[in-house]
Amino acid sequence: MKHLTASAVLVAAVLTGGSVAAEPQAEVLHWWTSGGEAKSVALLQEEFAGRGGTWIDMPVAGGGGDAAMTALRARVLARNPPTAVQLKGPAIQEWYEEGALADISGVAEEQHWADVLPESIAAHMKCDGHWCAAPVNVHRVDFIWANAAILEQNGIKMPTTWEEFNAAAEKLKAAGVTPLAHGGQAWQDATVFETVVLGIGGSAFYRKALVDLDPETLTSDTMKAVFDEMRILRGFVDSNFSGRDWNLATAMVMNGEAAFQIMGDWAKGEFLAAGKKPGKDFLCAPTPGQGFLYNVDSFAIFNVEGEDKKQGQNLLAELIVGPSFQETFNLNKGSIPVRTDVSLDKFDMCAHLSAGDMAAAAKSGSLLPSYAHGMALRGAQAGAITDVVTAHFNSDMTSEDAVKMLAEAIANSM
Ligand code: GAL
Repeated sequence: MKHLTASAVLVAAVLTGGSVAAEPQAEVLHWWTSGGEAKSVALLQEEFAGRGGTWIDMPVAGGGGDAAMTALRARVLARNPPTAVQLKGPAIQEWYEEGALADISGVAEEQHWADVLPESIAAHMKCDGHWCAAPVNVHRVDFIWANAAILEQNGIKMPTTWEEFNAAAEKLKAAGVTPLAHGGQAWQDATVFETVVLGIGGSAFYRKALVDLDPETLTSDTMKAVFDEMRILRGFVDSNFSGRDWNLATAMVMNGEAAFQIMGDWAKGEFLAAGKKPGKDFLCAPTPGQGFLYNVDSFAIFNVEGEDKKQGQNLLAELIVGPSFQETFNLNKGSIPVRTDVSLDKFDMCAHLSAGDMAAAAKSGSLLPSYAHGMALRGAQAGAITDVVTAHFNSDMTSEDAVKMLAEAIANSM
């Protein structure tokens, strides 16, 4: 059947005197399967199809992308990689070192990416000086979301310190409301943990602990205080939290089943997809503390054979960084555009908060890569930390034991 179709095309081309032009094709591996995520990635599929491309979707469900990364490894081992893969930060370099990534400098130069992307973000997209990935957005991880009506009914304001958060949560608990919607999956525990590291320790502490992996910082009293707060937070989640997907936790806040969620602004994509309005139905604020934890989604372009696939890669890269897609995608996804020249006029108060804080954090040196979302560390080190965070959250391990385990886990992962 396949042969027949191919030869039919060939005959048609010969008869019309034309040549068989390759049509752009891309198989795209991603983990955007929740309501807001699926809506956002559908926009890219539409633009791609609008330019004559054939999109082969390879969604692998699982927030944070752990399952997607397992699927990717299997495909690369089978010597059949997808054309483009949602990949981030140091993982891009890891795959480049495996010899798996293609060079998309042609498109990047033609589209002047260097002029419109912040330098620090552009650096993540380059492999030995050439472009190998295309960035989509800037997500902020250190966000806290709240059900506006619940806070009002209980006389609670968005907390600005962890003490305030704990006091608000105790009050809610006493009133019979689940204070914190959380999904007990390792990456979600890690997400909460890194915001507490930033909030309690500050930005210099965060950098020393989760970027430089300094052993003294990892075992310090401040790190013990971070685990103490994690233990307190554990007391604010409901009894069914184990294994829950992050978007179901967001739905709890949306539906009035819980007051708060600590989650990156992809949670806003869920609120928006459900027709909820920021400032009215739900509130957003940075998690207590100073700084900004960034998480840049990007697509790494893999080495593939075939003119159609190569054209697909180029088209995909061009669209992803294109100004119109950057606007519409990010309006849906909850993030802000990664391009510096896209107007934020159509964006809401949470996006403006994010953009303003990001600029301020860049000036003050507190713009920090998220470890929980693969921006700060290589896989082995990030995984070692997350294992300890999850083990602590799901047991009665003391903070003293947790910091010891943390230092050991890091030492063993090097
Ligand atoms: C993050 C990713 C976001 C969002 C989230 C939940 O790692 O950067 O785009 O998809 O996972 O799936």
